[in-house]
Amino acid sequence: MDGNGRWAKQRGLPRLAGHRAGTENLRRILRACVELGIKILTLYAFSTENWGRPEAEVRGLMRILEDVIDHELPELHKEGVQLRHLGDLSRISKKLQTKVLNAVEMTRNNHQLILNVAFNYGGRAEIIHAVQEIVRHGHPAEEIDEALVSKYLYTGSLPDPDLIVRTSGELRISNFLLWQAAYAEYYIAPVFWPDFDKEELCKALRLFCQRDRRFGLVK
Ligand code: IPE
Ligand code: MG
Repeated sequence: MDGNGRWAKQRGLPRLAGHRAGTENLRRILRACVELGIKILTLYAFSTENWGRPEAEVRGLMRILEDVIDHELPELHKEGVQLRHLGDLSRISKKLQTKVLNAVEMTRNNHQLILNVAFNYGGRAEIIHAVQEIVRHGHPAEEIDEALVSKYLYTGSLPDPDLIVRTSGELRISNFLLWQAAYAEYYIAPVFWPDFDKEELCKALRLFCQRDRRFGLVK
């Protein structure tokens, strides 16, 4: 979800207004995903690198997560959304940790759509965490294969993503799902995240359908 800041700047608004607009957009995109039958959606909401932003912006982004949980959770639950968290919760406030864990617990039996929220997430940090867990569980070297590493990532038993969409025209991975993206298709939308609507999503999906996925094989 990139481009909130630039969206705001274009309108002479503070960056946080862009993040608010981006959050508004979330509802639209979520609804569209449910309608389109998408089963798993992962949102990159806050990266391990985002801590380096000005303190007020970091605080604002924390507040937005809290507001989304406070105000949107009943509706999400009603729509059958299963919330999951990807990342390290330990660095966020105890109060917010509890809210996230409660939301995950409350929605765990929903099956309309799995919504992974990557918050304080980094692809490298995730791999390091997985290696630490593998060692902690005493797996011998011979046992370590792709399936085992996948199992210890934050995404656990979920399949790898088919399509990764980045908004705002940037051609970068920015530490997102590094392991899981091995054979994902990429799509870069030219618009800022707050302007990424259902039409833009459908464009991404149509182009995805035309991709010739070979997974390193020959046809
Ligand atoms: C939102 O867009 C992504 C978050 C980290 C919440 P940005 O904040 O990266 O917006 P730009 O890239 O400065 O426009
Ligand atoms: Mg950005």
